[in-house]
Amino acid sequence: MEIWPAESIWEQVSPLLPGFTVEVLPEIDSTNTELMRRARAGRTEPTLLVAEQQTAGRGRLGRPWQSAVGDSLTFSLGLPFAPQDWSGLSLAVGLSLAESLHPDIGLKWPNDLWWQDRKLGGILIEAATAGQQSQVVIGIGINIRPRPAEGLSTPPAALNELWPEATAGAALLRLCAPLVRTLLDFERYGFAPLRTRFEARDVLRGREVQTSDGLQGQALGLSASGALRLLTASGEGEVHSSEVSVRPVSPRA
Ligand code: BTN
Repeated sequence: MEIWPAESIWEQVSPLLPGFTVEVLPEIDSTNTELMRRARAGRTEPTLLVAEQQTAGRGRLGRPWQSAVGDSLTFSLGLPFAPQDWSGLSLAVGLSLAESLHPDIGLKWPNDLWWQDRKLGGILIEAATAGQQSQVVIGIGINIRPRPAEGLSTPPAALNELWPEATAGAALLRLCAPLVRTLLDFERYGFAPLRTRFEARDVLRGREVQTSDGLQGQALGLSASGALRLLTASGEGEVHSSEVSVRPVSPRA
């Protein structure tokens, strides 16, 4: 059985986010779906919602997110959020997670945690408006122990491979307060101050990549707002949309 350090997390985070609560549920359809339901019903208090099991976990681009009890960390953080510019938010979240969890974790634009060219975790960000207030729900799934590929072209990576004693609870405790600090900084200063740190972990930079909307070119790093700079046959351009996925077509240099 997983031990959840809910009280320690609450002690670290509530000075940063007044009214903050932590909830751990044995099972729910999806922590993102639940916090979005609450936001639409006007319940916007800052909440960390952790699920031991999700029966309808959701990934980006309408994909399902599968996880097995005990083998992964699945949670969402919902809070009132009003940045001047939302661009680069998923990059800021990924960077915060990677920096909290392990020096060797890479980042694949726009929001995957990678290790040794395999996906270690993903981020699903959704926004809701409740009255005058805008609310963000940041959903995070991280593989803790290896699991079978289940139809994926590459088997996923797991945190245990880099941090052998990692548990879902220990990982959550490490990443939570830094994540909240990152969000509060992002709200004031945006993505630009984080760009150099993201680029230090950028697994696509310098590689030939393909986007799901048909572009192919060399990844050149990021713009100040967090767009992916791509050198294609027709020149340099930027990929902005969070509705695309990108995959490397060249091996790591
Ligand atoms: C992706 O890489 O496609 C994003 C995956 C996000 C999964 C997490 S698990 C917790 C939260 N609840 C969900 O239904 N999805 C996110």
